[in-house]
Amino acid sequence: MSRIVYVNGEYLPEDQAKVSVFDRGFLMADGVYEVTSVLDGKLIDFKGHAERLERSLRELDMASPVAMDELLEIHRELVRRNDLAEGGVYLQITRGAPADRDFAFPDPAVTPSTIVLFTQKKNLVSSPAAETGIKVISIDDLRWGRRDIKTVQLLYPSMGKMMAKKAGCDDAWMVEDGFVTEGTSNNAYIVKGGRIITRQLGSEILHGITRAAILRFAREAQMVVEERPYTIAEAQAADEAFITSATTFVQPVVEIDGATIGTGKPGPVALRLREIYLDESRKAGM
Ligand code: PDD
Repeated sequence: MSRIVYVNGEYLPEDQAKVSVFDRGFLMADGVYEVTSVLDGKLIDFKGHAERLERSLRELDMASPVAMDELLEIHRELVRRNDLAEGGVYLQITRGAPADRDFAFPDPAVTPSTIVLFTQKKNLVSSPAAETGIKVISIDDLRWGRRDIKTVQLLYPSMGKMMAKKAGCDDAWMVEDGFVTEGTSNNAYIVKGGRIITRQLGSEILHGITRAAILRFAREAQMVVEERPYTIAEAQAADEAFITSATTFVQPVVEIDGATIGTGKPGPVALRLREIYLDESRKAGM
């Protein structure tokens, strides 16, 4: 079944949607993106994703081709046209297609940004990984220094996923100066003595929208949250570990670099937070 995708103001069958070979997203990874999950046909945490997108654009001095309030309508229309009940909407904005390849940014008055959105159908709620937990390896964090900007430079995270796959694992946690930053496409947490520990915000990690929601729900449920760096050794000695993202929600981690975490089964804190996140998201979906 062919999807309907959104490209620069038009809703088109996916095989008719085209972007120039001179697009700076293609030539230079000069673009930003967002992934918003969809549950029961509703957008989850849309406001958070739209605000982070605005921030990413601002940090890169990139113009938005659409007004922010139009974005919600485009997302909704795409969900409707593709009859999407569960999965996600991917959005990407790049600095457009100038007449030729050049390192300097083109004049936005001459070269408008390119915007593309498409839907991805996926089971998010009934996920085998959420039931069994995932295994991760640790790798050096070799990404650039502005990980708080959600750019489409995803080569190293892709390489990290491949390293994990080769090691018989599901994902990789990245380590810089001895401390865990985050997963290749998710934020990383450990639980020790009932305390939830996760890397503090900064330019070293992406400010996850799911992270913000989970920490808010955890605090509302009287759980103690510590936002600070931790090592792989501390994580291996934790009672529980888990990841969060728009595509995984809360997913338990049961093994890190071959060491079993806790009982080797998804822990109660991760499972409880997943349940709360699903309940609250369903109520607040738009
Ligand atoms: N990734 N950290 C990184 C490096 C990420 O790429 C992501 C999201 C997150 C979690 O952010 P959020 O909770 O806002 O989804 C953290 C998306 C899902 C992706 O690249 O597909």
